[in-house]
Amino acid sequence: MIAHLLSAADLDRETATLVLDTATEMATVAGREVKKLPTLRGRTVVNLFYEDSTRTRTSFEVAAKRLSADVINFSAKGSSVSKGESLKDTALTLQAMGADAVVIRHSASGAAHRLAHWVDGSVVNAGDGTHEHPTQALLDAYTMRSRLGKLDGVRVAIVGDVLHSRVARSNVTLLATLGAEVTLVSPPTLLPVGVDSWPAAVSYDLDAVLPDTDAVMMLRVQRERMNDSFFPSAREYARRYGLDGARMRALPDHAIVMHPGPMNRGMEIAPEVADSARSTIVEQVANGVSVRMAVLYLLLGGKS
Ligand code: ASP
Ligand code: CP
Repeated sequence: MIAHLLSAADLDRETATLVLDTATEMATVAGREVKKLPTLRGRTVVNLFYEDSTRTRTSFEVAAKRLSADVINFSAKGSSVSKGESLKDTALTLQAMGADAVVIRHSASGAAHRLAHWVDGSVVNAGDGTHEHPTQALLDAYTMRSRLGKLDGVRVAIVGDVLHSRVARSNVTLLATLGAEVTLVSPPTLLPVGVDSWPAAVSYDLDAVLPDTDAVMMLRVQRERMNDSFFPSAREYARRYGLDGARMRALPDHAIVMHPGPMNRGMEIAPEVADSARSTIVEQVANGVSVRMAVLYLLLGGKS
């Protein structure tokens, strides 16, 4: 197993499949009366969050606790970061308290890689700027595999603000590793430079792509990362790239609708779609706990 999980590219097919299979085992714990395994007793996991999070932070906390690890939740707001303390000094302070793993979310792309050079424990990237969010890609792959039965040859459309999306970057890499076929659907202004070299097709026409799609993954329009106007108006964006009821009905009957959350309801996804039987959005959150248990177990379980 790898020492850190910084990027989806750290996972070859065998390792990624091991994580997904281990997550399947971990999911059985959620159904028990006592949802705990003794596996990481005596280990400490630090959640180091410099950017806001609901799902990722809480699910790493639940995952670590289900494995009986001690958890330190650090959020930059309210800490000595406001006094100017650097990421390195903060990390070394937390390491002095005996962190075996550090889960980091940061607005700077590359922050998790830097951290891995400074601390002794395993580092897990929980989202670095617009770069990567590998555990999100793993939980998405897990959800597709459990709903569609396989990943090899599965046709996935990733739709929307690809430019600012670490979810899209990690998904494209992991899905290619696992044999899925990805099409990115986005306005040209929300596609990154160099997207031609990604292992994915590109389309500007959502209506043309939907009938040949097994899983459609809607991306949030990330206004907090936009310092320019990338499309004429929210209404225009929703009209061209939003998934509404009519578009959902153009999908094959077996197709699923995904979103990493948080959603802009009414913009990239209509409420009727988000709350439909095809939507796996809540399931993705539950699967996130199992996948993060698997990641922590595989990174820390074998170490003493
Ligand atoms: N929650 C995901 C992330 O942090 C997706 C999003 O915010 O749109 O990358
Ligand atoms: N999907 C995701 O990463 O959600 P949060 O930003 O709430 O953690």
